[in-house]
Amino acid sequence: MLQKIRSFPLGASCKAFAVPSLVIFILFYTFSYTQICNKPKSVGLFKSNPFELMRPTSSQTITDSPTNISHIRFVLVGSVKTWKHRKPYIEAWWRPNETRGKLFLDSPPTQEFLPWSSASPPYQINEDLTKLRIYPKLVNPGQVRMYHSILETFRLGDNKDVRWYVMGDDDSLFFVDNLVELLGKYDHNKYYYIGTNSENIRSNYDFSFDMGYGGAGYALSYSLIEALVPMMESCIERYPYLFVSDHLSSYCSADIGVALTIEKGIHQIDLVGDISGLLSSHPQYPIITLHHFDTINPIFPSKNQSESIYHLMEAAKLDQSRMLQQTICYHRPTNWSFSVSWGYSAHIYENIIPRSVLRKPLETFAPWKKGRPPLYMFNTRWLSNNPCEAPHVFFMDSIKKMEDNLVLTTYNRSSPRNLQACSASGNHSADSITKIQVFLQSTERKEAGRIECCDVKYVAGMNVANVKLRTCLNGEVIA
Ligand SMILES: *[C@@H]1O[C@H](CO)[C@@H](O)[C@H](O)[C@H]1NC(C)=O
Ligand SMILES: *[C@@H]1O[C@H](CO)[C@@H](O)[C@H](O)[C@H]1NC(C)=O
Ligand SMILES: *[C@@H]1O[C@H](CO)[C@@H](O)[C@H](O)[C@H]1NC(C)=O
Ligand SMILES: *[C@@H]1O[C@H](CO)[C@@H](O)[C@H](O)[C@H]1NC(C)=O
Ligand SMILES: *[C@@H]1O[C@H](CO)[C@@H](O)[C@H](O)[C@H]1NC(C)=O
Ligand SMILES: *[C@@H]1O[C@H](CO)[C@@H](O)[C@H](O)[C@H]1NC(C)=O
Repeated sequence: MLQKIRSFPLGASCKAFAVPSLVIFILFYTFSYTQICNKPKSVGLFKSNPFELMRPTSSQTITDSPTNISHIRFVLVGSVKTWKHRKPYIEAWWRPNETRGKLFLDSPPTQEFLPWSSASPPYQINEDLTKLRIYPKLVNPGQVRMYHSILETFRLGDNKDVRWYVMGDDDSLFFVDNLVELLGKYDHNKYYYIGTNSENIRSNYDFSFDMGYGGAGYALSYSLIEALVPMMESCIERYPYLFVSDHLSSYCSADIGVALTIEKGIHQIDLVGDISGLLSSHPQYPIITLHHFDTINPIFPSKNQSESIYHLMEAAKLDQSRMLQQTICYHRPTNWSFSVSWGYSAHIYENIIPRSVLRKPLETFAPWKKGRPPLYMFNTRWLSNNPCEAPHVFFMDSIKKMEDNLVLTTYNRSSPRNLQACSASGNHSADSITKIQVFLQSTERKEAGRIECCDVKYVAGMNVANVKLRTCLNGEVIA
């Protein structure tokens, strides 16, 4: 297939020739080493550089249209056993007749799943891997099946206009509009492997810091796919002892010189319990995926897991660019800080706390594997019973589109805080607030990586606080 042999960098060739030319220099006192490095072309000896012929002959200029949803081909991997309760997870984000791709299954769907739901991705039964020479030596054939699904997708044809293959599990939740925008930043004509590693330092140590975790989802540029496909089975033969498909994938990409590009909106969620702390202080990047819904609490405490996901996706339908984006502002007369994670939660602190602190997730969750700190790849805040540090917590209750492009999200108190008021900042209790209304007026997606600001409107004694999102002023300090 497409062979891309990069030209030999001058730095490397200088090093390569350093030793022989030094020997020549010492023996004959005539040959200048520096001359070789500075002007290799002028030295007769190197006129017929054997590497010259292998350089790409022409540099084509490709004028591509913007990347859109139909340029992405999803390779989702599930199993008949897990499908029953994971179906709602996929159907929450899959867009029939819009998103392209297949759900790969280990065996034919049982009667209860037939006829196959048109709201689900079409399914495809994986090829029989026992045909592979290496099969008897595979330590975990089920995992090789997952990686092999890339090759099987390619063999199905229908690759016209495909720019990216995106891998995911049956419990990965994609924010497709954000994914399209993210991939649009990268040149699909080059080799790209875009994903994320685990939140847990330990998992990355055990597997790899250079691996895109599969459940978090990762993207391979089509150009990389074309390079991987012909050598995929030989790569599988090289690593029969690898236990996990994502690990195998990272090795096969590494062996053709492609390293992981990390994007912080992609989430493996190797966490257990309540992840609201993380989702309330999401990193300053658009959310791309969430994962592992079976091992975390329902993300909205008053709902079960699949209801929670559908609830979250109600906001995602209106504006993915602002989903879980943290906006912070203050009500000075009461010394309160408001932190809104749009479409998900809102917090009130009875104290003025700067953005530099509030952007760190509250450690409401625990790691996948217990161990000694440091546990996470990011900084966290400890949960505290100090009334000046512990927030009043609200979760999104409703989202409404109003006239004039106004979107109103409301957030309900989840439970009483049960603490005194923060006395250091003047004893202004927020216990009476039951609801926060957040107003957003915009027709445009928020620019990735840039925060927005807000203003608080609160009349003393009321039980509702109003927050209006707006563009930050030049140099506005959030503290
Ligand atoms: C995506 O872009 C291609 C051009 O590259 C165009 O043909 C196609 O209609 C677009 N699809 C959507 C869904 O916008
Ligand atoms: C998808 O397209 C097929 C045929 O093109 C059609 O029968 C089906 O109703 C469509 N499904 C949805 C959910 O739009
Ligand atoms: C979650 O709640 C919905 C609506 O009440 C219900 O239909 C569904 O069966 C529940 N799911 C689980 C796993 O309990
Ligand atoms: C939020 O409060 C409204 C009334 O103010 C209530 O109808 C709704 O059930 C509450 N939602 C949750 C999730 O508690
Ligand atoms: C806000 O807190 C500061 C101490 O951080 C205090 O000096 C000030 O009086 C408080 N303001 C109000 C309105 O309570
Ligand atoms: C806040 O209330 C506590 C006890 O209720 C009191 O000791 C303290 O002096 C009060 N602080 C302010 C600034 O009013």
